[in-house]
Amino acid sequence: MRVLLLGSGGREHALALGLAADPNVEQLIAAPGNPGIATVADLRDIDPADAQAVVALAVEVGADLVVIGPEAPLVAGVADAVRAKGIPVFGPSAEAAQLEGSKAFAKEIMTAAKVPTARAYACTTPEEVAAALDDFGAPYVVKNDGLAAGKGVVVTADRAAAERHAAECGRVVIEEYLAGPEVSLFVVTDGQSAVPLLPAQDFKRVGDGDTGPNTGGMGAYAPLPWTPPGLVAQVMTEVVHPTLAEMRRRGTPFAGLLYVGLAITADGPKVIEFNARFGDPETQVVLALLETPLAGLLRAAATGTLAVHPPLRWSAGAAVTVVVASANYPATPRTGDEITGAEVPGIIHAGTRETDDGRLVSAGGRVLCATATGADLNAAREAAYALVDGVTLDGSHHRRDIALAAAEGRITLP
Ligand code: AMP
Ligand code: GLY
Repeated sequence: MRVLLLGSGGREHALALGLAADPNVEQLIAAPGNPGIATVADLRDIDPADAQAVVALAVEVGADLVVIGPEAPLVAGVADAVRAKGIPVFGPSAEAAQLEGSKAFAKEIMTAAKVPTARAYACTTPEEVAAALDDFGAPYVVKNDGLAAGKGVVVTADRAAAERHAAECGRVVIEEYLAGPEVSLFVVTDGQSAVPLLPAQDFKRVGDGDTGPNTGGMGAYAPLPWTPPGLVAQVMTEVVHPTLAEMRRRGTPFAGLLYVGLAITADGPKVIEFNARFGDPETQVVLALLETPLAGLLRAAATGTLAVHPPLRWSAGAAVTVVVASANYPATPRTGDEITGAEVPGIIHAGTRETDDGRLVSAGGRVLCATATGADLNAAREAAYALVDGVTLDGSHHRRDIALAAAEGRITLP
């Protein structure tokens, strides 16, 4: 099988490692990729959101499967264009990707499908914003309605900050605060059948102890030893299948990766958000534990044959990934700093670039993800932090507490 992978971040490097390890993959091409992905794929420099360029490349390389990593090409309709050419593609249509592309659309689908989620109002005027904030009280949750790379959400007790964010965004969704630990559940689906991957947990805030602003994600681990028994089955029944049924009913079936972001509240799991693609950095840990060949699984979803795909196999043990971020991330990250110590297994490239004279430098906010597995969370943590400590990047920062509370048995359910 020839596989074309679109994207250039840590998620795509993790996907590339999984795809390249599938014995049925004879060639992996990535566009545009990054220096880490280049170790397992042939890179082609096209814009992954340019549908015509992607279709032309898929035809040229004889792709049997196109895998779309990031959300922007999905929302731009790249999957539709590839599918129209008759090439199997892992990634939802533009219409189905609105589950991620518009928070208001996602709420509409959840309401229609009776999926448990936070109560919410879509607001545009300052009066609507004030009324919604009054209704829910603090802590306030204000979400930019459009795509915002995980950074469009402000959760704050500061009323003025909540109003400021709403004014800056223009159109927002304001919702009830959901108290409880968060879970990211990835579901591979062909629109009808759905296969859950292992639940993972992400760390959204920049600082230790969940302090500071939200980021795209500072680390992750899997599995989650503290989740209630039956959680995945419950989420499949209460969230995933009703959502997929509603999308089919509307004539816009969702096929690809449904990312269900949940809070485990006192009233059970409730949806915080849907994404239309693999999460980053959760993908790095989930795929580190997946033993089933990845390309075969994604191709089954792309060709409507998931119902006959064999059950997934997982390694025992745990995986942890720690993001090494550049100076000043998540504000305006500094780039162009030299990176050393990254040429070791387990270092996943996110925002890196090779200079003309062959040096590896930072090229984004999240630069590397140090990813390791171990017999348990403690062992995986130790190995991941040993990788982090072997990397140098001037001004970089990372969290020291990824998976710590779970490893110490300190996560409690409300
Ligand atoms: P989102 O982009 O919707 O995933 O939001 C980013 C982060 O903000 C989530 O991972 C949560 O940590 C937090 N968040 C979003 N919505 C809520 C909510 N209704 N209640 C509590 N926290 C939330
Ligand atoms: N890890 C959060 C996201 O991918 O949106």
